Amino acid sequence: PDVPTPSEKLLGFAAVGKSLADKVIVPAGYTASVIYAMGDPLTASTAAFKNDGTDGDFESRAGDQHDGMEFFGLDSAGKPSANGSERGLLAVNHEATINEKYSAFFIHANGGTNTLPRPAAEVDRETALHGISVVEVRKVGGKWEYVKDSAYNRRVTCLTECDIHGPAKGNALLKTKYSPDGSKTRGTLNNCGTGKTPWGSFVTGEENWSGYFTRGAADDAARGDKSVASLKRYGRSQGAASRHAWETGGADDKYARWNISKLGASTDGSDDYRNEMNGQGYITEADPYNKTRALRKRTALGRYAHESAAFGKTVAGQPLAVYMGDDSRNEYIYKFVSTATWSEADATPADVLATGDKYLDAGKLFVAKFNADGTGSWIELSINNAAIAAYTTYKFADQADVLVNARLAADAVGATKMDRPEWCSVNPANGEVYFTLTNNSARTAPDGPNPRTYEDMKGSSKQTGNVNGHILRVKEKDGNASATFSWDVYLFGAQSDANPGMVNLSSLTADQDFSSPDGLAFAKSTGICWIQTDDGAYTDATNCMMLAGVPGSVGDGKKVTLAYPAGNVDTFVGKTPTADTLKRFLVGPVDCELTGIAESPDGKTLFVNIQHPGEGTAMANVADPTKYSSQWPANAGYGAGKRPRSATIAITKDDGGRIGT
Ligand code: FEO
Ligand code: CA
Ligand code: CA
Ligand code: CA
Repeated sequence: PDVPTPSEKLLGFAAVGKSLADKVIVPAGYTASVIYAMGDPLTASTAAFKNDGTDGDFESRAGDQHDGMEFFGLDSAGKPSANGSERGLLAVNHEATINEKYSAFFIHANGGTNTLPRPAAEVDRETALHGISVVEVRKVGGKWEYVKDSAYNRRVTCLTECDIHGPAKGNALLKTKYSPDGSKTRGTLNNCGTGKTPWGSFVTGEENWSGYFTRGAADDAARGDKSVASLKRYGRSQGAASRHAWETGGADDKYARWNISKLGASTDGSDDYRNEMNGQGYITEADPYNKTRALRKRTALGRYAHESAAFGKTVAGQPLAVYMGDDSRNEYIYKFVSTATWSEADATPADVLATGDKYLDAGKLFVAKFNADGTGSWIELSINNAAIAAYTTYKFADQADVLVNARLAADAVGATKMDRPEWCSVNPANGEVYFTLTNNSARTAPDGPNPRTYEDMKGSSKQTGNVNGHILRVKEKDGNASATFSWDVYLFGAQSDANPGMVNLSSLTADQDFSSPDGLAFAKSTGICWIQTDDGAYTDATNCMMLAGVPGSVGDGKKVTLAYPAGNVDTFVGKTPTADTLKRFLVGPVDCELTGIAESPDGKTLFVNIQHPGEGTAMANVADPTKYSSQWPANAGYGAGKRPRSATIAITKDDGGRIGT
């Protein structure tokens, strides 16, 4: 009797204002509760997390920096059930740690050490915090909680054995001392965006893995082959330090593997770790319901800084399309088209990983080329493509080489350099594909779908590049295998008071303005497009946030001409949003990024991740909570200690309605 009748108007909630408070703010009538934070124990025998730097056993605890996340339902008896909405599994990416120089200081008692060699015990904690977790969650007495002793709970770290699948399996480029036949590697690393396959498995994107490795100052000459060009293209110059200096932890191969110098005498790399970095950078698939099965790295989808993977609408008898972005400045957007055509029987398979083999191990990889007139095309990255065969910067040996070095192949065919493609998602209403282009400080000249470069904007910000980012959308001309498409910009990020003709091109109001879109996913239940930010440009006015959008379709807006001193540039802007079509839904605590969007199948719970609150804290202040930039979630009543922790929250509507109404 106390429960009000659910109101079902999409975006019926009152917009949340911008905030600098150290807390999660949701609209009136909604509740957000913390359910699963870094360090939480995942087995019955693991000690409670003290959060003072003395905890151990991180292989049995929630990892750090919760990022992309997907929900997999369970029925009331705990059996897999696609429609289970009150009990289920969350598969969570643990991207990275908060570190200063080498040390992930919040997990070490004294902040850890930044002198070399790094103590093995510190390295072991840091490697254990990376990877993914699968954790059971359930509603008890109307409140969500995680299940500490669930038999489903799982940790995969950046040292857990994974299987290489697809065309690069067994290729010379994958041979290492750990796997001389090139069929395995250790770990999944810097896991960022996620996806859910049409057959019900979990996929995770390996993003900024390159920086964890190092190679010697004279390694270019020692190698003396084309691998040097590959390493440089993927961000590993000789002599550059690794992020955590894990390679200094000891003689064991679990430390040595982070040094990818050519040290051995073999010609194929099977006696050292020179090829070790080729084992990272994939869309990697897991069976969320079975913790005994190894993850499979889907090399057919290419190797780069993967964010999410979004599946085009399934049509029986037609191939599948998987859309993906490479999140680095001036990198590319990709599409994989499966060889196998979709069978509805595969929507509920007995073995999800075998079904993954069917759809994700054979197919064609394409890269996007955008034209300034609002059209574009997909270019196949094939060893048989003349531009790839004739490329002189890097001589490709075979198709596996094209996939492992997809960035170089995309360079060869002249693909369009984008403003950092982060998440992508497919609009269930019409199949259009949305890509967040988060920002790009290296954007110096406008180019097609990347039209803003503030440097040239008189009377506007003096910052350079595309500061606030935008959200691009693509409409295939002819289904998943289409060779051509049209595009426009759904929304340009901007402060509401920015120049409307050059910056705030979407005419955002104070209830809608945002900067640096990153997480983006459509809710299946409501069709709402959830948008999350990872921003540093507007954080003087507001912490990072989440917005709800009800988008139209490509071409519903107008052509706009930006008047640069160097010449006018046309772009295509979607329909101007209204209070009924775009509204701020949530603002997070200090220094966090909002990420991870996973709804229960009934749409009544939305799980979201608060990543790296307090990351602006200086390591020197690790023992003084008053100097932390954030004390969340401790200040929300969750857990021991005051050190900030990445965490999952569950959002419910007090009247029991669906989220976003
Ligand atoms: Fe891990 Fe591109 O964000
Ligand atoms: Ca991201
Ligand atoms: Ca980001
Ligand atoms: Ca982040």
